[in-house]
Amino acid sequence: MQGRKILFGVTGSIAACKAATWVSSLVQEEAQVTVMMTEAATRFVTPLTFGALSGQQVYTDMFSTDAEEIMAHITLSGDADAVLIAPATAQTIAQLAQGMADNLLSAAVLASAAPVVVCPAMNSKMLAHPATQRNLAILKELGYLVVEPETGPLACGEVGTGRLAEWDTVREVLQGLFVEQDLAGQQILITAGPTREPLDPARYLSNRSSGKMGYFLARTARRRGAEVTLISGPTNLPAPPEITLVPVQTAAEMAKAVKEHAENASIIVKAAAVADFRPKNVASLKIKKSTAALQLELEPNQDILASLGKGKVQRPDQLLVGFAAESNNHEAEGRRKLEAKQADLIVVNDILGKQTGFDVDTNQVIFITQEGAEQLALLSKEETANRIWDKVIALHKSKRG
Ligand code: PMT
Repeated sequence: MQGRKILFGVTGSIAACKAATWVSSLVQEEAQVTVMMTEAATRFVTPLTFGALSGQQVYTDMFSTDAEEIMAHITLSGDADAVLIAPATAQTIAQLAQGMADNLLSAAVLASAAPVVVCPAMNSKMLAHPATQRNLAILKELGYLVVEPETGPLACGEVGTGRLAEWDTVREVLQGLFVEQDLAGQQILITAGPTREPLDPARYLSNRSSGKMGYFLARTARRRGAEVTLISGPTNLPAPPEITLVPVQTAAEMAKAVKEHAENASIIVKAAAVADFRPKNVASLKIKKSTAALQLELEPNQDILASLGKGKVQRPDQLLVGFAAESNNHEAEGRRKLEAKQADLIVVNDILGKQTGFDVDTNQVIFITQEGAEQLALLSKEETANRIWDKVIALHKSKRG
């Protein structure tokens, strides 16, 4: 978001108070936010609040004669990278659908060539009304991005659909405006997180995967236009917006889910830390501690990546990316896995480093392909994910010749 110029339109809904927190979040990400308010919006939150949060002049009046506000609808819209209207009332949605320009916000939208993101918020009956639905359909036809409202308790005391979308969802839509849609048309299957192999009703075997690497792969792929299915072991992470999330617990459940979703995928990335073994006997009652040492007999889980590799004969078009979590012999182990699992790319990461591997926000990986090895710098997992997609796109292009 750094340096992006967001023209933020606020209209007359109680959800205007949430818009204030969105402005604050954008400013914290070093976006330049200019707020326009309808007169009705100022009934809910004062321009002073938005001025203090954005650090910019707030515009409310198209007919102001103040020097810096004259023709504001033209000057404001001129250099915006995006127009975000949140909350968007039924009234403003109707005005935009009809191309009206009788206030600063609607006039600025008409005068802007920037992408427009509209976030409706209203009572569920008003939202469901055919007139509102027709106006929303017109906005979509005009190319506006409508971020559908959430379902839940509404300010009027009812429960229904009409709550302003979550900021995380809207932020991802905005991010998508600023990145090349170079994964558009790709169906991408990603696995993330640990698996849990039950021992008894209270205990399981697992590992230190937090899911961060896989979830950043899902977010960045979605932003770049892909259709994403994320098969995830248990994590504390919020589901990335606008993707299909398939939660699993055990390696066997993950294998089943991968088998179900692999068919349609053009690219598969296996970032999950899948247990290689599971307890052979799962006790139905909690195992009581005794003086004798507890002997655990383990049996192997299916190697999902290897199974996908074996299936490549039928799917030579499908790109298969595996990870390698290594503590030593990184490159050699990565190459071994590339060959053994018939992957197109293995992403090797060190699990002993304090800034790499499990449960940290950074990573430093080595790309292993048939062509050789490529060491990346220490990057955020978000940037690492973007670099993985860059590599995948290059491999996809060379695969297609
Ligand atoms: O989730 P984070 O906290 O962000 O940590 C990220 C990570 C360290 C988990 C991730 O970067 C990573 O390295 N994931 C792979 C972990 C792992 O299982 O590596 P491995 O070398 O044991 O397995 C090699 C590959 O085979 C992996 O793609 C794995 O998904 C796959 N595999 C492994 C075992 C198994 N039974 N089936 C598999 O498909």
